[in-house]
Amino acid sequence: MELDWKNLGFGIMKTDYNVRCVFKDGLWGELEVSSDEYLPIHIGATCLHYGQESFEGLKAFTGKDGRIRLFRHKENALRMIESAKGIHLAEVPIELFMEAVEKVVMLNKRFIPPHGTGASLYIRPLLIGTGPEVGVKPAAEYTFLIFVMPVGPYFKAGFKPVDVMICRDHDRAAPLGTGHLKVGGNYAASMGSIADAHQSGFATALYLDAKEKKYIDECGPANFFGIKDNTYITPKSHSILPSITNRSLQDLAKQMGMKVEVRPVPVEELSTFEEVGACGTAAVISPIGKVADVDNGITYSFGDGVTPGPVSTKLYETLLGMQNGDLEDSFGWTKILD
Ligand code: PLP
Ligand code: COI
Repeated sequence: MELDWKNLGFGIMKTDYNVRCVFKDGLWGELEVSSDEYLPIHIGATCLHYGQESFEGLKAFTGKDGRIRLFRHKENALRMIESAKGIHLAEVPIELFMEAVEKVVMLNKRFIPPHGTGASLYIRPLLIGTGPEVGVKPAAEYTFLIFVMPVGPYFKAGFKPVDVMICRDHDRAAPLGTGHLKVGGNYAASMGSIADAHQSGFATALYLDAKEKKYIDECGPANFFGIKDNTYITPKSHSILPSITNRSLQDLAKQMGMKVEVRPVPVEELSTFEEVGACGTAAVISPIGKVADVDNGITYSFGDGVTPGPVSTKLYETLLGMQNGDLEDSFGWTKILD
């Protein structure tokens, strides 16, 4: 099979296998392997009607040594447990989650992009209420499954600055809602504003805090960070997803001798940053060239709009270098599968 690894986008592609497991009568069953891309589902399943679902996103890489590396998959297992607690799904035990990830990656080995292509294998775990209910209550049955596909950059530009648009007429998450969980409802709520941003020529929407619209929350499907005075600054908010990439970048920034601040970030502070970016598994680091506050007629610009800033570049290269084994992983973040 010859895929054009260097020109992959971020999209669905059929691979050989997915893995699945059903929770029934209070217990998780066996992990099963399937090559079917479809799932027979009861028309009353709670995931269909009441959004009782959670998903995760993580990646596997091929190192220079040809070995397969997984990045921090235990953290995704832990976050899925938090999501399950938040919307009353059956919790997937950490060991089951990690075993399922490792299994599905090895089963689809031929789809893991080679080292040096800039691509990776995207892993999508999904946990859904499959038991039927018509009243609003948690299902009695759940399905946990994982499928994978090779991907390139999330934003078409790759590691090049993108422009984003502040969203003032819409919220993706309520102040005490589910924004801190990785559940489908947040993404449904974000579809309109992301489509608006695309229509206006921006890569994505930048959300503000839902209560006061004073502080930066996050950036489409990624967290937000700003750099100034040798400091990595990222929002503290109950309504953003606790990003594993963001936490990793904070540790890398400290290792590089920078200060790290996790605190509310007022919108006006944008005018003081030397660099800003979006970060996440899919986005990795996407440097931001311009933030448009269209409703207030203000545009914040960073650098020349085409060249990523030096700190973002160093963070990006260090993170990717660790993920694909080019740099020593002093944090023990990667697991080699063989
Ligand atoms: N914020 C949102 C809304 C996301 O969907 C994601 C992606 O998972 C992130 C942030 C980044 O999180 P992570 O770095 O764990 O992928
Ligand atoms: C990820 O970065 O893994 C995500 O889940 C973002 C996704 C919504 C595309």
